Amino acid sequence: MKSLPSGIQPDNIPRHIAVIMDGNGRWAKRFGWQRTRGHRAGADAVTRCVEACQDLGVEYLTVYAFSTENWRRPKAEVAALMALLDGFLVDRTPEMMERNVKLEAIGRLGDLPENVQERLRESIAKTSGNTGVTLVLALSYGGREEIVDGIRSLLRGIEGGEVDAGAITPEVFSGHLYTRAYPDPDLLVRTSGEMRLSNFLLWQCSYAEIVVMAKLWPDFQKADLFEAVVQYQQRHRRFGGV
Ligand code: FPP
Repeated sequence: MKSLPSGIQPDNIPRHIAVIMDGNGRWAKRFGWQRTRGHRAGADAVTRCVEACQDLGVEYLTVYAFSTENWRRPKAEVAALMALLDGFLVDRTPEMMERNVKLEAIGRLGDLPENVQERLRESIAKTSGNTGVTLVLALSYGGREEIVDGIRSLLRGIEGGEVDAGAITPEVFSGHLYTRAYPDPDLLVRTSGEMRLSNFLLWQCSYAEIVVMAKLWPDFQKADLFEAVVQYQQRHRRFGGV
């Protein structure tokens, strides 16, 4: 077995890491470049983050790639992000196959341009048999929207007789969220120093340990993920107990 980076305990690796990849625009601005150049550099950081998760044996990595609020950005930036996503899926799917990465996506995927939806379906289908880390792209994703969609799904279940309205528990509700197949994140990482959840995995992050890094997302290296895990391992998780 490959040895772990120093300072990381093998018996306490987070199963699921969620990342708010913030600071692409500010990173580009520092060099006097267009914001989209920051997003392009951000896509490379996603690949480094996946590799770091593989090194540690993390099972799930969910990255906030496009929020429901991001549709309000200038048309040209939205178009550039969609083109970047399309290119990412084309270019990186062979690498995901080589590295045994399984790709999945959560969010209101039907809002994405048809070509991106098709590309996503292809990459998801192609990588579906892979057994390494699962990379979950949150796209047109909003935590409140997900909760509303979960309530709608529950109501359909009640109408159809599959859900007992009198027996709804947090576990039952979790089963109606986009993330129903994944454990809740153990660790939430946010870059660029902002201390906000920004509508990301609101229900699921109830007990996540939060690590905020000052660094902007395009500068994110594998060592930063390792550092976040070291911090996670120093926390004492009590889940509301003593
Ligand atoms: C936040 O930076 C980042 C986003 C809104 C999009 C995240 C997208 C990527 C990392 C690249 C594409 C990802 C994939 C998977 C292809 P910001 O633009 O809000 O930065 P700012 O706060 O400095 O303005």
